Amino acid sequence: MTDQYHNAAGSWTGGKPRLLSDFTVRPYVINECGDVRGRRVLDIGCGAGSIARVLADSGAEVCGFDKSEAMIEKARSLPSDGIEYKVFELTADSGLPFEGHFDAAVSSMVWGPCPLDVVDNGNRLVSESLDQGGRYIIAIAHPDMANYKPDSKWIKVLSKGYHQNGDEVKFKVYDADSKEIPLEGSHLTLEFMLQNLINYGFQLENIQAPKPTENDRKTYPEMWSPDDFRIPFFSIITARKD
Ligand SMILES: C[S@@+](CC[C@H](N)C(=O)[O-])C[C@H]1O[C@@H](n2cnc3c(N)ncnc32)[C@H](O)[C@@H]1O
Repeated sequence: MTDQYHNAAGSWTGGKPRLLSDFTVRPYVINECGDVRGRRVLDIGCGAGSIARVLADSGAEVCGFDKSEAMIEKARSLPSDGIEYKVFELTADSGLPFEGHFDAAVSSMVWGPCPLDVVDNGNRLVSESLDQGGRYIIAIAHPDMANYKPDSKWIKVLSKGYHQNGDEVKFKVYDADSKEIPLEGSHLTLEFMLQNLINYGFQLENIQAPKPTENDRKTYPEMWSPDDFRIPFFSIITARKD
């Protein structure tokens, strides 16, 4: 199969920060997972396994899946003790590709471009597979991202607006060398996501709009612009299954 993430697999391997999300998404998602020693964690749309590897190194048993063969191939080529990867596309009427229950689930920057019925099914499946008290950590684009001006070097927002889900707000992504990552993102409204989580029995435990730290500013100083510190690009939602 070929799609935008498949073509971009090499850019998402983690390690040294190379993308805005290395500063303002993955560290926060991992932190919200808490102590994962001995825990079974589902990683939806795990990509090249950047989050899965950190969680497994911290003692979790991780089950990660992604629809892109290239992403999973890349993930498998890196250390993967404690991680089971599967190529699998979650659709509006699929189940999960793993049996059994999970202590926690993660979906980092996966749902934005997905049709709403796919997100709805994903949230329902996570709700059914999480044990009581289990955490579900989600990263999606922040509502204010439409206000990014063209001066950000990490992200270019191509169209304005917020109230449409999916393809109305598009953006391009660049790496630390200003090389365009061959994908176009799109957003999902916070309203849809939170209401959908409530519908499936989740309680909101935390919501964050991370901005880069002063320390981050020192990494690739030429890449940062005022917008990156003024406007959040991502929302990190932590929901708990009751
Ligand atoms: C922006 S990448 C993020 C990867 C990883 N979660 C991370 O934070 O590094 C989004 C990933 O979600 C995957 N994806 C999108 N929709 C999916 C679906 N319906 N089923 C499985 N994977 C999906 C894409 O193939 C891509 O690898």
